[in-house]
Amino acid sequence: MLRLVWGILFTSFCLYTGWVYLYCDEEAKTTENIHPAVTEGWNLWQQNNCQSCHQLYGLGGYMGPDLTNIARDSTKGKPYMYTFIKHGTGRMPAFNMTDDEVYRIIDFLEWVDKSGVSQVPAEAVHWSGTYIIDK
Ligand code: HEC
Repeated sequence: MLRLVWGILFTSFCLYTGWVYLYCDEEAKTTENIHPAVTEGWNLWQQNNCQSCHQLYGLGGYMGPDLTNIARDSTKGKPYMYTFIKHGTGRMPAFNMTDDEVYRIIDFLEWVDKSGVSQVPAEAVHWSGTYIIDK
């Protein structure tokens, strides 16, 4: 009986792994399509340790807000992001970056925004626990 259960679990695992591999988003498999400006912004994001205070998809530090979808927030936008990153606030440090560097980080945050939605609205959750939301 135990063998049967293990057999079923193992077979399910193999089928599921195969399914994920075959049907995953092609773009997600490669970093080739990422624009160099985004990669540059991503590196600056890491070098300046932005994630020690900010989250992407809920992961990171909690001193500042989650920045996953800041680019789509119609009340904010590029000049808003620029001001925070360039000059800081009382609570957020200024990073003495060149304008170019600030705009590369903004390119990165815009790219992150297009990858999905961080906060899933309650009404988008299906009774099965899954959800589909537009990117
Ligand atoms: C020491 C912690 C800390 C670090 C490091 C940090 N931030 Fe912040 N950030 C904050 C805090 C706190 C706020 C909220 C500031 C306020 O309201 O005064 C904030 C706000 C922001 C905002 C505005 C968010 C909003 O929704 O209003 C942006 C954009 C931002 N930070 C980008 C960055 C970037 C990019 C980096 C890395 C270069 C970075 N931050 C590094 C603490 C930090």
